[in-house]
Order: sequence, then structure tokens, then C-alpha cells
Amino acid sequence: MRTVMDLQNDKQPKMFSMSVILYSCVILNAVFITVVIVRDRDIVDIDTSYHKSNKSWMSGDNAVYKTHADKEKEKHIIIMASKETGSSFLGEILNRNPKVMFVFEPLQKFTTKVPSGKMKASAFDGENIDLIDRIFKCNFDIDTFSAQQKPIFCSNSRVFSESALCSTKNITHVAINNLTDVCLTYQYRAMKTIRLWNIELLKTLAVDPAIHLKIIHLVRDPRGIMNSRNKLNQRNKDFQRKGDKLDEVTELCKDLSHNLHIIENSASWLKNRYMLVRYEDIAKDPHAYAKHIYDFIDLELPLEVQQWISKSAKQTEGGKYSTTQDFAAVATRWRYEISFSDIRSVQEKCAISMESLGYKEVKTSDELENEKNVLGYLPKRFSITSENSYMNINFHSIEHQLIEK
Ligand SMILES: *[C@@H]1O[C@H](CO)[C@@H](O)[C@H](O)[C@H]1NC(C)=O
Ligand SMILES: *[C@@H]1O[C@H](CO)[C@@H](O)[C@H](O)[C@H]1NC(C)=O
Ligand SMILES: *[C@@H]1O[C@H](CO)[C@@H](O)[C@H](O)[C@H]1NC(C)=O
Repeated sequence: MRTVMDLQNDKQPKMFSMSVILYSCVILNAVFITVVIVRDRDIVDIDTSYHKSNKSWMSGDNAVYKTHADKEKEKHIIIMASKETGSSFLGEILNRNPKVMFVFEPLQKFTTKVPSGKMKASAFDGENIDLIDRIFKCNFDIDTFSAQQKPIFCSNSRVFSESALCSTKNITHVAINNLTDVCLTYQYRAMKTIRLWNIELLKTLAVDPAIHLKIIHLVRDPRGIMNSRNKLNQRNKDFQRKGDKLDEVTELCKDLSHNLHIIENSASWLKNRYMLVRYEDIAKDPHAYAKHIYDFIDLELPLEVQQWISKSAKQTEGGKYSTTQDFAAVATRWRYEISFSDIRSVQEKCAISMESLGYKEVKTSDELENEKNVLGYLPKRFSITSENSYMNINFHSIEHQLIEK
């Protein structure tokens, strides 16, 4: 089985020749296009065809719905993260499930226009949501994608890579229809994005009766995020780019605290639809967290995903490490890699969100020696592991607590 690294290196050697931190999010430079026209195609057909058709399709042990998925049972999953938070790893946990259609970073197209400073990230809010809606509903048309952006989803999204879209040179109606047909057979449609910075934008999808939304909000200690971003070869060529006027740390934590505020306060539309996970916790116990996530989306964690996690957890950056313990150590390695003045600066700008998420401020560099001084527990209102046994977690009651306080 291939690792994330292989997956990325295969087809995009140049792009990925730079350091690929084990499960840090790697930014792929492909792009998606969307159109703003909203159509309501085929919705009625889908409802009935599943029952009418008696075709079923089994391939080895992987039972995949060849007929259209039952709309009532559809699940639409979005991993909402920011750059360098481990979202590639988390996405792969879904991408490797034969029952899931997973799309890797569909929103990049829009934000490539942002770094120039000419446009605000929020200028693309409408287009971003429209594209997410199209993917969730398999409502593609010829303008949804562009040839330029093909490499990213052809090499990183399993289902797309097997569709006609990725085996033909140009994007044709035939290829789009094929992708639509393939998409409609999946009950679980998922994506990960690092380009949706305002959780409120998801409200229109959450309240849409045709969408059964599950939001996995992935966060990380901003000190670790900044350390990883600083190591990117392409110097953060993106929305939050180094060297631009934009203060990246401030932007990061402004968005984070805004989102946490929404989550902790009034958002009843998030009830049963939201789960927060910290990168550091996943790193410490990726199997347990994969299980949490699968419980949350109401799907069984398949063996192939568990095996992939075991395999991945044994590799880290540079291949120097060989145990799962080291895998966990990578999460707070920033303590030895970032200057203390940078640490202090991040702490100042991110005080509110750090505190909300259990990331502790350090006052002296000596304190960095002990991980416990920087990494506290996730406060209970966000915690999915307040009981020690993750097997028995009742997500509904936890989500209930979270939203209702
Ligand atoms: C559906 O089932 C019927 C009866 O079992 C069979 O004759 C027919 O060929 C099947 N159709 C398809 C498309 O598999
Ligand atoms: C879509 O295209 C792929 C690759 O060309 C092909 O293997 C598959 O059977 C097609 N699927 C549908 C539903 O048309
Ligand atoms: C594919 O697109 C290119 C550029 O638009 C065009 O020149 C070429 O003729 C197209 N090829 C096919 C097979 O349609």
C-alpha cells in the first residue's frame, strides 16, 4: 500500500520533491474551477434508482455501491483545517475507504488569486460554498473543473483518479458525466480543505435537507503550525504567504478564535454535525482518533485504513524514526526548532485561541523541555475523550454538551 508520500511523489515529482513532513499538510498546486450557476439536476432520479435497479457490484472485499446511493443515507463530510495541521493525513483516512468518495482540496483555485493582495480571501466565499455543494451533490458540469487543476485530484483523490476525468486529456462532457455517475454511487462524499476560514459559511449546507453534513474541524497549536509553514520550500505560496503584508499569525488566530467563538456560543445548526480534533491528539493515538472520526460519521473503520495508519505511523520526516512514539513526538518538535522570540510572538497573537484549545503559554525557554508545559488537555467542552475509553463515546451527548453548553 502506498503512503501519502508515495501518492504525492508519483505524479508530481517536482511539486513534492520538497520536504514532505509525515502527515503535515502538503500544499498541492492544483486548482478547481467552479461556476456560480446552481442547477437541480437529476435529484429525483437518484431517489428511486437505487431501489429500482438490481445491479449490485462487489469487488473483492470492497463492497462499493454501483447503483446510486440511497439519498437518505448519504453523508457529506468536510475536514476543515488550516495549512500545516495534518489535514493530508486525516484526509487519507477517508480517501482509503472504498465506501468514501474523497476530494483533496477542491478550493485551491480561488485562493491562488489572494496572495497578490488584490483580493481578499472572503471574495471567494460564495464560489467556495457553491463548489462544495456541487461535490456533495455530484452536480458537476463542464465548467466545474479545469485541466490545470486535474493533477491535484487525479493523484490525491482515489475515486476521481479512477474516473474518466483523469484518464482523458481534456475535460469533456463524457468525462464529466462519468464522474457524475461514479460520484452518485457513493453514499459517503468527503473532502478536506484548508481554505475555508469561516465556519459560518457552512451553515447554508448544514440546513440544506439534501445534505447530511459532518464537519471535522482540525486544529493545531499555532506555534507548531508556524514552525511547519516556515519550513515549506515554496515559502508559503498561498493565501497566507510569508513576506506579504499580511500578518500570517494574526490572520490564522483571528480566524481560529472567530470559529471557536461561533462553535461555543450560538451555533445550534452545528449540533450533531461538528467534531473538533487536535493534531497533537491524533499524533499520539492515530488509531483511536480514526475510530472517533469514523464513529462520528457513522461508518465502520475498515481494516485497510487501520493498516495504512499503522504503516504511516512508523514513518516520519527523513525516515529517521521508527516507532509510533516518535510519530507523536513530531507534533511538538517545534519546541526545538523555532526561536523563543517567535514563540513569544505567536503566543501573544494567539493567546485566546490557544487557551481555548488547551495549548499552554511558556514564559521561559527552559519550560520547552517538557511537552506537558506546552500541551495541555483539550478543554472538556471540546473533548471527545473525557471518558478514557474511546470505544464507548457517545458522540451525540458530547456534541450536545458542546453546543448546548
Ligand atoms: C434483475 O433481476 C432479474 C431477476 O432476478 C434478472 O432477470 C435481471 O437480469 C436483473 N437485471 C439486471 C440489470 O441485473
Ligand atoms: C468511468 O470511467 C472509468 C475510466 O474510464 C471507467 O472504468 C468506469 O467504468 C466509468 N464508470 C461509469 C459509471 O461510467
Ligand atoms: C484538448 O484541448 C486542447 C486545448 O484546448 C485542444 O487544442 C485539443 O484539440 C483538445 N483535444 C481534444 C482531443 O479534444
